[in-house]
Amino acid sequence: MAKNFYITTPIYYPSGKPHMGHAYSSIVADIFARFKRLEGFNVLFLTGTDEHGQKIQKEAQKKNKDPKIFCDELSETFRSLTKTLNLSNDDFIRTTENRHHKSVIEIWNKLVSSGDIYLDKYSGWYSVSDEAFYDEDEIEDKNGKKISKSSGSLVEWVEEESYFFKLSAWSNKLSEFYKKNPNFILPESRKNEVVKFVEKGLKDLSISRTSFTWGIPVPKNKKHVIYVWLDALTNYISALNFPNTEDKKYKAFWPADVHIIGKDILRFHAVFWPAFLLAAKLPLPKRVFGHGWILSDDKKMSKSLGNILDPLEIIEKYGIDQLRYYLVKEVSLGNDGSISLENLKNCINNDLANNYGNLCQRVLSFIKKNCGNKIPYSTKLNDSDKTLLNNLKNSLPKLQNLMDNQNLNEYMKAVVGFSFEANKYFNDSEPWTVKKSDPERMNAILFTIVDQIKNISILLNPIIPNATNKVLAMINISNENIKIDNIKNEKTLNHKKELGELEILFNKIENDN
Ligand code: MSP
Repeated sequence: MAKNFYITTPIYYPSGKPHMGHAYSSIVADIFARFKRLEGFNVLFLTGTDEHGQKIQKEAQKKNKDPKIFCDELSETFRSLTKTLNLSNDDFIRTTENRHHKSVIEIWNKLVSSGDIYLDKYSGWYSVSDEAFYDEDEIEDKNGKKISKSSGSLVEWVEEESYFFKLSAWSNKLSEFYKKNPNFILPESRKNEVVKFVEKGLKDLSISRTSFTWGIPVPKNKKHVIYVWLDALTNYISALNFPNTEDKKYKAFWPADVHIIGKDILRFHAVFWPAFLLAAKLPLPKRVFGHGWILSDDKKMSKSLGNILDPLEIIEKYGIDQLRYYLVKEVSLGNDGSISLENLKNCINNDLANNYGNLCQRVLSFIKKNCGNKIPYSTKLNDSDKTLLNNLKNSLPKLQNLMDNQNLNEYMKAVVGFSFEANKYFNDSEPWTVKKSDPERMNAILFTIVDQIKNISILLNPIIPNATNKVLAMINISNENIKIDNIKNEKTLNHKKELGELEILFNKIENDN
């Protein structure tokens, strides 16, 4: 029976247009989801929108719109982005849906019955933009204004009646959990931040607000709405039909294998979320992976700096595979990384057009011209042929391990390396010179190189699904044969059927484009 794998993106605030940061979280999660499917896992990949809270209410007010109508419109933009980014998500959750509402109420009730909630008064700093409470030592003065040191966003003083979650009571349990599960938070550098923060001792957390109404009302006290982060984090189980813990989906997919998030929301996922779950006596997710920031010209992208690269514009001009490939190649997952239009163009030309694209194009057009458009069959592979194929096949366990640890950059480096190696092999083997003198040798070379193109295409499939699907279709590999297991198996190649129509995979970008 296939094993299950559950992966999630953050759910996005539909407060404005989607930007590159959103695209990045989603693309990265999609790559892991697709890879696990190639390994034969039964995957559930979830994304969606986070629609309650003061931030959204304020944005809706600015536009003079009812918040629900405002969210209906903007959530659609995020839903359509999943298509534009070619995401393979199985579900799209909105926190304004009934299935989510039910689930949040149940979590709240569980925390009440475990004795983890009490009523008091909150006085302190709050950032609407981050939807986060900050301590005095987490804020600073800038041009006469109070801002959060970590995010730079404005904070305001809040004093209101509030329900509190006894987070302080969970510090030790959390520390123990991190010790027992050393890979719960990745990358390592991020883990250390969290561990230190928890070891200092945690303060109780305000989990309801009374100064606005846009949220899920607290059961039995409608003056309060539930804090948007307690609401939002619960989405990960709402989508599995929680509170029905006997439901097939819940049983198959909870606990989640990995929550992919940005580093700015690590505390919510690696401290608050596990504490809520511990208190509710529910299992904890297996991993939280916090990726870094996408920077533009070494600065955080922001409207005021005018350095925003709009994912939609880039996709329209250069293509979605191109953007997916470039983002994950350029930015080392887990660290901050700068992107630029100049580097995107170079990457398309060097890696995609000249390397993988060129390899497929020249091999397949050679076969079309010289072999009746059918992949030759051969049992006479020499040492260099076998070495080429075996290098890749033997590295599969290592590649799978890299992906299981979200080491996407090492994985890509290895796969791109195979593509360079295959180009070199084709050049050095010179099938064109042995065509007349030794057709058997030519057949062995072509047999080998097409098998290697198949293998590289399968490995690149999660990253550039459109282009690799085209190549695999050209060599008559059916969709159900696009699997890691078929890398080990050269019998998947069809030597009797003609190759499909050759298509240009990646256009080279001229300098002024
Ligand atoms: N709604 C919350 C998440 C709730 S999850 C239960 C939220 N939404 S967000 O829309 O503000 O951000 C979503 C994701 O985009 C976060 O993971 C954030 O890190 C990521 N990014 C936003 N800007 C970014 C960059 N410039 N670079 C990389 N990712 C960044 O937070």
